[in-house]
Amino acid sequence: MSSKVAPFLSAISARRSIYALKPELPSNIGIKDVQETVQTIIKETPTSFNSQTNRALILTGDVHKKVWDSVLNSIEGDSGKKRPTSIRDEAYGTVVFLVNDETTKAFQEQFPIYASYFPPFAEHSTGAAQISSWTALELLGLGAHLQHYNDAVKAALPAGTVPDTWSVHAQLVFGAPVAPATEKTYIENPVKILE
Ligand SMILES: Cc1cc2nc3c(=O)[nH]c(=O)nc-3n(C[C@H](O)[C@H](O)[C@H](O)COP(=O)(O)O)c2cc1C
Repeated sequence: MSSKVAPFLSAISARRSIYALKPELPSNIGIKDVQETVQTIIKETPTSFNSQTNRALILTGDVHKKVWDSVLNSIEGDSGKKRPTSIRDEAYGTVVFLVNDETTKAFQEQFPIYASYFPPFAEHSTGAAQISSWTALELLGLGAHLQHYNDAVKAALPAGTVPDTWSVHAQLVFGAPVAPATEKTYIENPVKILE
């Protein structure tokens, strides 16, 4: 294995879903570090036709609490309340990943033969930004997990924060880790070389 790629592969392998969080950041990390990290990832993640559909927003403090309280209140029955309750009370913040659907629409109009491809392309690119951000925040020493309360989060964002034409695609919830991830199993899944 080339030593140049080893740190990259090791960061990818170290990323896990860390659900046990406390509402702090590791001692040497500030929210600006989180912002700069996500900002760079949003800027540099490739998009189809360089359409630059990716957007992100970071919620902390009262806004994080209010948004997740609202998500919690949108859920009927007790069984689904555990996760949003722990996010509200135990996480430090949330990166909300969005897509500017106006951009997608403009590209569909400009390139009609590819019209059906642009929405999935935008999904692929936000997914790439989500997983890069997840990996990077855990490299910084944070714990994080990925959630999809998309409609409830969009409805709970403070008025005027994002245009109506931006859709919410995922939430990367983060804080200081208090316990490691549970053991993960893998299928046998070799990548073959055909020649
Ligand atoms: C596209 C995608 C969607 C996911 N959605 C959720 C989710 O909605 N809620 C959740 O708790 N975990 C979610 N996860 C986390 C996966 O369950 C988790 O990544 C998987 O079990 C592997 O565990 P690991 O993250 O510790 O490697 C999602 C992961 C991916 C890649």
